[in-house]
Amino acid sequence: MMIVRSVAELRAMVAAWRRAEEIVGVVPTMGALHAGHLSLVEAAKGACDRVIVTIFVNPKQFNNPEDLAKYPRTEERDAELLGPHGVDVVFAPPASEVYPEGFATKVSVAGLGDPLCGAHRPGHFDGVATVVTKLFGMTNADRAFFGEKDWQQLQIVRRLVKDLNLPVEITGCPTLRDPDGVAMSSRNGRLSPEDRAKACVLPRAMQDAAAAIASGGTAAEALASARTAILEAGFAEVEYLELRAAEDLAPLERPDRPARIFAAAWLGGVRLIDNIAVPEMSPA
Ligand code: PAJ
Repeated sequence: MMIVRSVAELRAMVAAWRRAEEIVGVVPTMGALHAGHLSLVEAAKGACDRVIVTIFVNPKQFNNPEDLAKYPRTEERDAELLGPHGVDVVFAPPASEVYPEGFATKVSVAGLGDPLCGAHRPGHFDGVATVVTKLFGMTNADRAFFGEKDWQQLQIVRRLVKDLNLPVEITGCPTLRDPDGVAMSSRNGRLSPEDRAKACVLPRAMQDAAAAIASGGTAAEALASARTAILEAGFAEVEYLELRAAEDLAPLERPDRPARIFAAAWLGGVRLIDNIAVPEMSPA
């Protein structure tokens, strides 16, 4: 497994693969890898001849400088974790390679980027859309793999690929969870052991709300009970907790088309996000 830092070197390798008619997959990450990331790598391995994992903590998607500074950087350990997974290249460029002097372009996906995380993290999704577009350009991959853990991000990426006619096929992969139901995240490591024990209340409350809504309860009531349970467990704040359409993220009162519950909540200074499917109801 090679670690590559320059776009020129990466392009030369990918060009040779493509000449040999090999299918190239990319798994974009910000490092601090865990089993969730590795599941994307496995999906890529299963669908491609060559796999690139990118590791780049993208400054443009952090709206809070403190969050950027605190983001875990564990490149050596990441490389060790990837070793046994048959990854061909880790592309870990310095910021100057991604955003050279004079960089002036922004990719912004209107609508899908506005609600949920977009409403609470101004500029975040423009930063994501910009870097993902660049990563597709830099890697020239045929296929790219993203987690459903970041559902809104996945929908934004699908949209920009369609809108900009990018020749890359997007695959969404299911959220990997710890045994207590907590979605794996690079941020979980920042929770104290006490707070980590409380974190499972978030997915549990969301599951309870999904079950109540699927059996005919109103979204407003189900989500209000979930909010109470989350706050009573010791979360400091529920940033959002909403029922929305899975595809266009429109707010819903009832799941009369594919729908998901989306949540962001603060626990011990750490922002956790999650989303789950709500079983569909047939229209009354
Ligand atoms: P990062 O948070 O490192 O996540 C990289 C990829 O791993 C994303 O597609 C994310 O959805 C997926 N992922 C994270 N936790 C997961 C879990 N528990 N189960 C399954 N997949 C999971 O998302 C980003 O980085 C960045 O925004 C990026 C796309 C790399 C652009 O900078």
